[in-house]
Amino acid sequence: MMNEEIQHIPVFGLNIVELLQVKDNSVILDCTCGEGGHASIFLSLIKEGYYYGFDRDECVLEIAKRRLSKIANNFRLFHDTYANANKQIEHARLEKPNILIADLGISMYQLKTRGRGFSFQTDDPLDMRFDGSDVDLRAHDVVNKYPEKKLADIIYEFGEERASRRIAYKIVRERNRKPIETCSQLASIIASAKGYKRGKIHPATQTFQALRIEVNQEMVQLQNLLKNLPDLVAENGTIAFISYHSIEDRIIKHFIRESVDFTRVNKKVIRPLDEEIAVNPAARSAKLRIGTRNAKSSK
Ligand SMILES: C[S@@+](CC[C@H](N)C(=O)[O-])C[C@H]1O[C@@H](n2cnc3c(N)ncnc32)[C@H](O)[C@@H]1O
Repeated sequence: MMNEEIQHIPVFGLNIVELLQVKDNSVILDCTCGEGGHASIFLSLIKEGYYYGFDRDECVLEIAKRRLSKIANNFRLFHDTYANANKQIEHARLEKPNILIADLGISMYQLKTRGRGFSFQTDDPLDMRFDGSDVDLRAHDVVNKYPEKKLADIIYEFGEERASRRIAYKIVRERNRKPIETCSQLASIIASAKGYKRGKIHPATQTFQALRIEVNQEMVQLQNLLKNLPDLVAENGTIAFISYHSIEDRIIKHFIRESVDFTRVNKKVIRPLDEEIAVNPAARSAKLRIGTRNAKSSK
């Protein structure tokens, strides 16, 4: 179900242009185009450049296409995982980008759109796939079929949820009675396992994040992208990653610090300003890391 009234606000807003030093002739590869928030900022500037946008979710790409077509024609969108960006760029014989950005995770639009299974406040079936066409695993399978220990490990690792064992135990007990079908059903099981106290963050937030990461194999996708990066980006090109949880941030931090092909630009992680968080609370956990592709070791 599409509802274009739900808008994702691009994190770092217009500042992204300065942070990535976008120029009139920049060639930008956006690994996570979403509904085209950052893309529309870039395209209003790169009159002599080009924009390639990837997304695994066909629904959001359709929105981006309509939105971007109104302001530019120097762009191309790919419905594919960013892990395949190198193959797609090579296959289409496109110029290597001198800026690559990956704004990881989920957009507000996906989170709020009914029927996707990302939001715990709905009676949606437990789905959580970004791309229904190439991923068979759904949150329903993870919740109803994974052994208790595996479930607890995922909730702990990908959700950084300290009550992971209690939650997994309660899920297994409930599913033995009858399968867990909806997001709200699962959310209330988690809330009761944690001893629900009203607070700013819903008690199911971390478990839902963990399930989404597992369903979409997000860490595998990220590792594959990082493996391809040296061949993907032009010499002296910029890479920028915006992440929203510490597992991703740790992977990116180590990659940029340890890779012989890249040099770290910002030693300290860049965070949105308080003024931005005030108008866009979803930005509160964002962390930006930037690197440069070294010229010496390029092939
Ligand atoms: C935070 S949103 C990006 C928002 C976008 N930067 C904007 O300003 O509108 C993250 C996007 O990444 C996409 N995504 C997640 N995993 C992906 C993958 N492996 N390959 C391509 N896109 C992916 C999601 O579908 C989602 O649209």
